[in-house]
Amino acid sequence: MPVKDIVVLSGAGVSSESGLATFRDSGGLWEGYNVHEVASIDGWNKDPEKVLAFYNLRRKQASQAGPNAAHYFIGRLEKDYEVTVITQNVDDLHERGGSSNVIHLHGELSKARGEFDDSHIIEIGTNDINPGDKAPDGSQLRPAIVWFGEMVPLIEIAAQIVAQADLLIVIGTSLVVYPAASLVNYAKKGIPKFIIDPSTPELFSYADWIHIKQSACAGVEELEQHLIHLRNE
Ligand code: OAD
Repeated sequence: MPVKDIVVLSGAGVSSESGLATFRDSGGLWEGYNVHEVASIDGWNKDPEKVLAFYNLRRKQASQAGPNAAHYFIGRLEKDYEVTVITQNVDDLHERGGSSNVIHLHGELSKARGEFDDSHIIEIGTNDINPGDKAPDGSQLRPAIVWFGEMVPLIEIAAQIVAQADLLIVIGTSLVVYPAASLVNYAKKGIPKFIIDPSTPELFSYADWIHIKQSACAGVEELEQHLIHLRNE
C-alpha cells in the first residue's frame, strides 16, 4: 500500500542542532534548572517567579534559534504526503521549518493563559510574562504549557491521528514522558516505523522499528533514502 499519511512524533532532540538544550542529556538539569521544579504545577505553586523566569529565558532562546535541516526536511514532506507533526516541543521551529500541521502536546512558548483557566489562550509572541501580569479574568498570567501534574488535553486527538498513519517517524524524544510516550502504541500493525536518535531510548522495544542511530539532521538524510525506496516498491 502506498504511503499517504505520515505522522512525525518529535521531542527536544529535533531542536538540539538549532542550539536548544534537550531535557535529559545534561543529568536532568535544563540550563541549570531542575526540570521538575520549573516544568510542574507543583513548581509553579511553590515559586511562580522562578518558573516565569525559566520560560522567559526559553522563549528568548527559541526566538533567537532557527529551524535546522531536520525541521526543513519534515516541512518538505508535505510536498508528497499528508503530514501531521505531533511534538512535545514548545518552540515553533517545526512551523518555521515549513510544517503546517503541528500539534503541540505540551503547549507553546508563544501563548499564555490565566492561572486557573486554560480555555482562554492569549498570544504573547516573544514577550516576557512578568509577575503581576494579569489574564482577562484577573488571575496571574502563566505560560500555556502543559506541565507535569497536568492533563494533556490534545492526547486523544493525537492518538487518533497516530492510528491513521501509514508511516510513523519518531525523532529526538527519549519517550519517557507519558502520556506522549504511549502514542507509539496506537500505530497500525505492519506500517513502517522509524526512530531517529543518536542514543537508544531505554523504555522502548524496537523489534519492528528501524533505528537510524544518528542526530536529527544527519538522520533525515538516511530516512529520505528509505522513503524513496518505499515509493519505488
Ligand atoms: P528528552 O531530553 O527527554 O530526550 C531527548 C532525546 O533526543 C534523547 O533520546 C536524546 O538521545 C535525543 N537527542 C539528543 N540530541 C539529538 C539530536 N541532535 N538529534 C536527534 N536526537 C537527539 O526530551 P523529550 O523526549 O522531548 O515536558 O522530553 C519530553 C518532555 O520531558 C518534554 O516535553 C518536557 C520534558 O520534561 C514538559 O516540559 C512537560
